[in-house]
Amino acid sequence: MTEPIINEREQKHAAELMKAKVPIREWWFKDNALLTFAFNTSSATVPEGERFIVRAVGEAAKRVKDEHLKKEAETLMHEELAHARMHDAYNNYLDSIGLPANKHCAETKKLLDFFERRMTLKMRLVTCTIIEHFTATYSKQILDIGILEGEDTDERMDRVWSWHCIEEVEHRATAIDLYRAIGGGYFTRLTVGAWVSIAFAIAHARCLIDFLAAKKLLWNFNIWSKGIGYLLGRRGVYALVLKYWFSYFKPGFHPNDIPIENRLKKQLHHYHIEDELVGYFR
Ligand SMILES: [Fe+2]
Ligand SMILES: [Fe+2]
Repeated sequence: MTEPIINEREQKHAAELMKAKVPIREWWFKDNALLTFAFNTSSATVPEGERFIVRAVGEAAKRVKDEHLKKEAETLMHEELAHARMHDAYNNYLDSIGLPANKHCAETKKLLDFFERRMTLKMRLVTCTIIEHFTATYSKQILDIGILEGEDTDERMDRVWSWHCIEEVEHRATAIDLYRAIGGGYFTRLTVGAWVSIAFAIAHARCLIDFLAAKKLLWNFNIWSKGIGYLLGRRGVYALVLKYWFSYFKPGFHPNDIPIENRLKKQLHHYHIEDELVGYFR
């Protein structure tokens, strides 16, 4: 498969930045702290969720006979481990610039370890489906709107997030298909799904507040007024995640029913570029 030209150009530009030793700007996204930290917060809360998904999905895959579904599970596990590896490097970079990412990563791990000890496999799979739903809808907004494109965003971070987002939208149905294949029903999905999403929303908000506070920007009016529209406006990332959060609770919900436009037709994941991405944070 040939890589679409837009990715080749971006790869070249990212390589030039590395060669010239240009540091990633602290506010790498539209020169705005709120927008940048919203992405950085996702990086801090995501890798432990991904490792949790790998364990639960691996266990569930052993219980299904459908070869296609087993293969999908394998792909998902491979992708999530690569994402987690890249986010570990990303989080170390965040720590190095004074944002306590690893602290929040450890807190998420504590929460998920608690879930792992107390929950049945079906409940853990529901947790996976809600994480996957959040990541897929967040990714949908990024790819459909193309907000990472533009000179005011660091090309390396565009590649990091576009790669992750593409894989998230592509494997968005695997966890829920596995859940249903092992006999998971609506009531557990409804109750555990609601509870886990609230726990995740709180963890995410706490991390974002902590990042802003670490840079003494929490009460900075300028930062909020410039960034809030991108997050909570009509086409804001959080606003649309919230809109699709409700659809998760419909009885016949299936992630593939949510249309994904991927406006720039990006294709990054076929090329196993995680080594390149990890290298951006060295
Ligand atoms: Fe992921
Ligand atoms: Fe995922």
